[in-house]
Amino acid sequence: MGCKIMDNKELIKLAIKARENSYSPYSNFKVGAALECEDGSVYLGCNIENSSFTPTCCAERVAVFKAVSEGNKSFKKIAIVSDSDEYTYPCGVCRQVLSEFSHDMTVLVVNKNGEYLEKNLSEIFPNAFSYKDV
Ligand code: THU
Repeated sequence: MGCKIMDNKELIKLAIKARENSYSPYSNFKVGAALECEDGSVYLGCNIENSSFTPTCCAERVAVFKAVSEGNKSFKKIAIVSDSDEYTYPCGVCRQVLSEFSHDMTVLVVNKNGEYLEKNLSEIFPNAFSYKDV
């Protein structure tokens, strides 16, 4: 999706757009994510639920899997937004999945008004498990 450098507000706008496609008939909790890679490309994701519940996939992982499946593993920044008043942080599983590819990326946690906090993945997911360390 293009190759221009995104500022935080632009990336958040894309995450809000991605949220429109949320398939969340069970929780009614709509989430959107926009993942910016080092080369400037952006991958969007929304949460996709399932009547069997466990196959549900978070917006962040949808964006990550789209990027990796397109050959892009160098992550720079991700913006995450739901329709909550609270800032939407990635769940533990998504933090682990992001950390597979970058410990040092920026995570923008956004509330429904578009206000955000800028975090580093290493800050919200310290001491990540790595199979390489075993
Ligand atoms: N969800 C996400 O997409 N990302 C998060 O960071 C937290 C949770 C989704 C999963 C499920 O569809 C709904 O939100 C409620 O948990």
